[in-house]
Amino acid sequence: MSVLITGGAGYIGSHTCVELVKAGYDVVVVDNFYNSKKEVLKRVENIVGKPIKFYEADVRDRDALVKIFKENSIDSVIHFAGLKAVGESSRIPLEYYDNNIVSTLVLCDVMREFNVKKIVFSSSATVYGVAKEMPLVETMPLGAINPYGRTKLFIEEMLRDLFVSDSDWSIALLRYFNPIGAHESGTIGEDPKGIPNNLMPYISQVAVGRLPKLSVYGGDYNTVDGTGVRDYIHVVDLADGHVKAVKWVLGNKGCEAINLGTGNGVSVLQLKDAFQKAAQIEIPFEIAPRRPGDPDEVYANANKAKKVLGWEAKLDIDKMCEDTWRWQSGNPNGYND
Ligand code: NAD
Ligand code: WQD
Repeated sequence: MSVLITGGAGYIGSHTCVELVKAGYDVVVVDNFYNSKKEVLKRVENIVGKPIKFYEADVRDRDALVKIFKENSIDSVIHFAGLKAVGESSRIPLEYYDNNIVSTLVLCDVMREFNVKKIVFSSSATVYGVAKEMPLVETMPLGAINPYGRTKLFIEEMLRDLFVSDSDWSIALLRYFNPIGAHESGTIGEDPKGIPNNLMPYISQVAVGRLPKLSVYGGDYNTVDGTGVRDYIHVVDLADGHVKAVKWVLGNKGCEAINLGTGNGVSVLQLKDAFQKAAQIEIPFEIAPRRPGDPDEVYANANKAKKVLGWEAKLDIDKMCEDTWRWQSGNPNGYND
């Protein structure tokens, strides 16, 4: 069975390539390397011990996609490709709508042409907007609060409409919580461009001396220790969730939104402490003002993933920190080393 992976050189895509090949799937990657490097795929090849077929192309390029579908017998698609920085999406919303929405439209149109109607889509917990209660359940109301989130929400709606129009489709809308960690080999991991927006890469870059100290955004939230609480999930668990989702789309018809989280909330200071323990390095920090738009707590109800996909997260916060540290300490400058 052959899976086309858009954005397969990215952080989550590269880990998913590894788990899919391990599970016996053939993978074909398409990526324009806007936010990743070709080196990533070489490292994936080293981990799995065989070549990875890849195309350097933009998913919005219809002709390029048609060529890929003609040259390969694709059975299903995982669509990771997209722009993902929340703050940037408010500064350049048109680029976000163009990249995220147009890529999905073109991709689904070409899939329909080749009668490949099985897709796993990278959605996000951000589609719940400002939720009134926790944990987040898939049936709760949706509503995005920034352009990035709106692209995810619109794409979910588009894909639901597609299924209503043609029930031959099989669509998994995977709502990720906060992916962190790296492959156990320490050879692939998260390598954000510029100063990281997200907490874990920020902590790990402080640990290797690329950044002086961590700013903890807000110490007066209504949480266990006053700092923001999130549902961090190991990227390898997340990748395994995609393997299970591919199996589901191949064997079923339907359109299902499914949370991929652990169900556990961890605060900023708890994550920092776990990282310090794993790395045996003190992380200097200060309590800074809140970041606008950040909620107190976000965590998943992960029951549906277990019921529908037979998947649940296995790796704990200590393992997430150990693996992040192995990656970051072995590659202090990411893939530029
Ligand atoms: P990433 O930026 O590391 O990976 C995305 C990949 O897509 C990159 O390799 C990039 O070069 C490629 N790409 C972007 N636009 C493209 C286009 N038009 N054509 C071809 N390739 C293109 O991001 P990630 O963290 O691996 O996230 C993957 C997906 O998961 C994204 O859709 C993101 O919105 C979603 N998501 C991520 C998180 C997170 O915290 N990392 C959380 C929820 C959802
Ligand atoms: C986590 C916690 C911050 C940085 C984002 C997107 C979401 C999803 C995942 C894509 C919060 C605090 C952070 C720092 C800090 N992405 N923090 N200092 O905001 O939960 O989710 O990534 O879909 O849509 O919004 O993740 O890692 O940015 O923040 O104190 O330097 O860490 O306030 O409490 P977030 P994050």
